[in-house]
Amino acid sequence: MRNRDSYAEPFRIKMIEPIKQKDRETREDLIKKAHYNVFNLKAEDVYIDLLTDSGTSAMSANQWSGMMIGDESYAGCANFYNLEEAIRDILGYMYVVPTHQGRAAENILMSMFVGEKQTVIGNMHFDTTEGHIRLRNAVPLNLVIDEGLNPDTDHPFKGNINLEKLEEALAGQGPEEAPLVIMTVTSNSNGGQPVSMDNMRDASILAKKYNRPLIIDAARFAENCYFIKQRDRAYHNVSIRDIAREMFSYADGCTMSSKKDALVNIGGFLAFKDNEQWYEEAVQIQICYEGFRTYGGLAGRDLEALARGLYEGTEEDYLEDRIGQVAYLGQKMTDAGIPIMKPVGGHGVFVEGSKFLSHIPRANLPAQALVVELYREAGIRAIELGTCAFGYTDPETGEEVYPNQDLVRLAIPRRAYTDRHMDQVAQAFEKIAARKGRISGMEFTYQAEILRHFTARYRPL
Ligand code: F0G
Repeated sequence: MRNRDSYAEPFRIKMIEPIKQKDRETREDLIKKAHYNVFNLKAEDVYIDLLTDSGTSAMSANQWSGMMIGDESYAGCANFYNLEEAIRDILGYMYVVPTHQGRAAENILMSMFVGEKQTVIGNMHFDTTEGHIRLRNAVPLNLVIDEGLNPDTDHPFKGNINLEKLEEALAGQGPEEAPLVIMTVTSNSNGGQPVSMDNMRDASILAKKYNRPLIIDAARFAENCYFIKQRDRAYHNVSIRDIAREMFSYADGCTMSSKKDALVNIGGFLAFKDNEQWYEEAVQIQICYEGFRTYGGLAGRDLEALARGLYEGTEEDYLEDRIGQVAYLGQKMTDAGIPIMKPVGGHGVFVEGSKFLSHIPRANLPAQALVVELYREAGIRAIELGTCAFGYTDPETGEEVYPNQDLVRLAIPRRAYTDRHMDQVAQAFEKIAARKGRISGMEFTYQAEILRHFTARYRPL
C-alpha cells in the first residue's frame, strides 16, 4: 500500500453539508435525554457520525446525474438494464433481483433455501443474516478460523472459514439439514476482515463436493478484493475487477447490501450466476415483498445510482483512498495506545471496549460506557458491538450470556469525511484515555427481547 502522505483524495468536493459540534454541556444533556443510547440522538446533534458505513456514502456527480435519468416505469425501466449489465460485467452473474436493501435480499434467499431446524453454515454471518435464519427456526453456524476471533493476532485474512470444520459440517449433515453455505466478504462481525481467494476457492470446492449452493454476502466485496490485491502476492498485479470476477466465479450467487461498496444511500440485490430456476423462484418472492422484477422496491433513479456506484466502488484509486483512510485512523489510535482489533479491517476501526476500560466489569457494559463517553467528549457517534448488541439474558437461568468480544465500532462512511475528521476522532480517544479510570459503567433500565441495543435505555452507575 502506498504511504498515505504520498497521495491525496482522488476527488474534489463540489457540495458540502455543514456539521457542528455542540458544546459539552449540551452534549451531556442530550445524551442523558437519549437514555444514554446514541441511536436516540438526532443526527444533527452529532458532530462526526461513525455509527455506520451503510447508506452514508457521498455519491459522485456521476451518480447524481444518473439519478436525473431515472426511468420510473413500473416494468422494464432502462435503469434496471443498466444495473443488470453492471452486475453481469463486474460480478459475472446473469440473473439480477433488485431489492430495497441487503436484508430484503437475505429474506428472499432464506425463503428459498432454509427451513425449520436446518443449519446455515458460514464464515461469520452478519446480524440480519442470523436474524433471517433464526426467524425460520433454523440455526446459524459460524466457522471462521480461530485467528479471526482473536483481536491481537496479525493474520492477513481473518475472515477465512475453517475448511476442516466446513468439511466436517458438510459431511455430517446432508442438504436437507444444512442447505446452504454463505461467505461474508469482508466479515463485518469480526472487524471487516477479508477472505482470501484461496479460501473462497477451497470453500467452493467443498460446497460442490457436497452439492450445496455457495452464496456470497457481497456488502463489502470491493474492499475484500482490495485486501486480496494487497496481501496475496499472486494478485499484486491483477486488477480489482479481475479479482472480483474470479472471487464471484467460485460462488453460485450473492446477496448484496449496496449501501456499502456500491456507494449508494439505499438499495440491494440478489444475483445468481446461471441458475434460471432459482431466479424465477426468487422473483415470485420478490414480487410479494419488494416489487416487480425490474424495480424490486427501488425507484428507477436508485437503480441508476447503484449501477454507476458498482463501477466507482471497484476503482483502484478510490479503494486505495478508502482503505487508506481507515488504516490512517487505525494507526493514530494505535499510536495513542488505544487497544484496537488488528489488522485494521476495511470499513472501520474496532476498539476493544472491555480492554480499554478494563476497570469496568463486563456486567457493567464497558463498551457502551465508551460509546457514551465518546459522545460526551467530542460529539462523535460510534456503535457498541459487544454485550449490549450480542449478549442476552438466558431465559432459563436468568443469567447474562456474554459474547466473545466487547467492541466499539468506528465505521467510516465512504467519501464523506476527511483525514482531519479522523484526527479529531483520535484526539478524542487520547483525551478519554488520559482520564479513563474515572469513567464508570452503565446498566440497562430497559431492554427488548431481540436486537436490544437499538432501543435499550441505560443509566450510568
Ligand atoms: N450483510 C452485511 C455484511 C452487512 O454489514 C449488512 C448491514 C447487511 C448484510 C444488511 O444490509 O442494511 O442493506 O439491509 N450492515 C449495516 C452495518 C447495517 O451497520 O454494518 P442492509
